[in-house]
Amino acid sequence: MSLQITPLNNVGVEVSGFDINAPISSEIQAQLKALWYEHAIMVFRGQDISPEKQIEFSRIFGPLELHPLKATTSEEYPELFVLENGGDKDKFFTAFYEGKEIVGRLDWHMDLHYTGRPNHGALLRAVVVAAEDGLTGFGDLAKAYDALDDDTKVLLEKLEVAYSFSMQRRHMRYVNLEGYQPGPYSPKKPSDVNFPDFPDAVYPAVVTHPISGRKVLEIVEQFLDRVVTPQQFGLSNDESIELLERLVAHGKKPEFTYFHEWREGDMVLWDNWRAMHCTTGTKPGIKRVINRTTIEGDVTLGRVIKAE
Ligand SMILES: [Fe+2]
Repeated sequence: MSLQITPLNNVGVEVSGFDINAPISSEIQAQLKALWYEHAIMVFRGQDISPEKQIEFSRIFGPLELHPLKATTSEEYPELFVLENGGDKDKFFTAFYEGKEIVGRLDWHMDLHYTGRPNHGALLRAVVVAAEDGLTGFGDLAKAYDALDDDTKVLLEKLEVAYSFSMQRRHMRYVNLEGYQPGPYSPKKPSDVNFPDFPDAVYPAVVTHPISGRKVLEIVEQFLDRVVTPQQFGLSNDESIELLERLVAHGKKPEFTYFHEWREGDMVLWDNWRAMHCTTGTKPGIKRVINRTTIEGDVTLGRVIKAE
């Protein structure tokens, strides 16, 4: 087996010459891990893969963790998180964008960002591909950082940003709310969908990747709330808001992002310490199933603000 690496559009790579069902030597495992740190986003096409194989393959990249939404994990394979559209639960994830009803759209985010301890990464495999739409976007925030001008880089070294968890998209300050309307069943608070609540988490505006040492722009639209005490660093609140608006727009530029159009058997692995992701959602009633495995985060990158 020898790996072939093809760049995707803008960021990430497609890895081919690879059969997940063949034995994976320790040399290939080391190469895969190195590629993950180098590119952050990896696509493997057309893999005929069982849940056991997905779990085994994911373990190459680190120990696996269970998602906090335990209700949707598979009983048979507790490491597997099944993301499913097209059933009864769709109504809770349905909202209106420019008057159109969309299920399961998610803004750019890093998983578990609001906990201060994001998972290290995750692997998605398409089991049932949506007949249309249902793309997953990935954004490389190390490349986005590298492209910033020097003045911005110097300023960001000093700043911290706070993330505030909420269930209502209209409470998020940096997502695009134009033309957005929640659906009649959109949750209003975490307990409506048996989700725990989380206090604010604070991150350095630039996080150094714990393994590669790359600098990562830690500014992602979902849950982003504010620069912490901007006046201490010579910025008014207004200036700090404009800075975050500019940086959120910067990270989403096409040159730092890749949108995966799923085919059956596709797998995508990303480094959640460096890459953000989003989903475009589907029209109601469209069946889509993705099996997800999650690689545990063993480093705390942010800090949770607790009552004194
Ligand atoms: Fe996610």
